[in-house]
Amino acid sequence: MTRGRVIEQTIEFVKQTLADAEGGHDWWHVFRVWQLSTRIAETEKASLLVVELGALLHDIADSKFHDGNEELGPRKAREFLVSLGVEEAIIEQVEMIITHISFKGGNETQQFRSLELDIVQDADRLDALGAIGIARTFNYGGFKNRELYNPDIKANLSMTKEEYKQSTAPTLNHFYEKLLLLKDRMNTPTGRMLAEQRHRFMEVYLAEFYKEWNGEC
Ligand code: ADP
Ligand code: NI
Repeated sequence: MTRGRVIEQTIEFVKQTLADAEGGHDWWHVFRVWQLSTRIAETEKASLLVVELGALLHDIADSKFHDGNEELGPRKAREFLVSLGVEEAIIEQVEMIITHISFKGGNETQQFRSLELDIVQDADRLDALGAIGIARTFNYGGFKNRELYNPDIKANLSMTKEEYKQSTAPTLNHFYEKLLLLKDRMNTPTGRMLAEQRHRFMEVYLAEFYKEWNGEC
């Protein structure tokens, strides 16, 4: 199968798999991460096929929507890529991206790194930032029926992976527990540059949010 055909088939597979996904983790999230990944990869000497397949398949079975099962995503991706006849070395690298991409509270040591993972992880993190990041965060909070904000519930920056996954805190806390930490954790120069821009936008947004909350404007 040609490279172009592999990508086309993968897009179809992802669209079908994510047909009922929450709005922040749907095909359009994957589409943005795929576009950002190819943009970041332009200035890196990475395997573009691994980057593209990793980006397209990174959220096909996100563990937080599958009872915490972290093996399902990589396994489904492997089965699919085997069915297309993709070579084993590529499949292994894609599996590693899916397994290790997640933030998980940020206090776990990441067990694996590759240039391709660095790129897709940056792209996924960028989609958590800026105007899109804000939209996704409130969408997820709504999906989980969380409060928008509660001045009595403070952000918790020292959560373990389990606590992070089980948190039911107000959506505004997620900005402090994850989103505002991301700009200092970017892997690539392009990722860092784009993250700084999106970070500033979120700071402006939060300042305005508190002003309105307190009736100051
Ligand atoms: P990770 O597993 O790497 O933290 P997620 O898939 O959980 O990545 O996060 C993707 C996006 O989903 C977040 O950037 C945010 O927009 C939204 N999200 C995830 N968890 C929460 C949460 N507890 N509150 C609000 N939004 C969340
Ligand atoms: Ni994602």
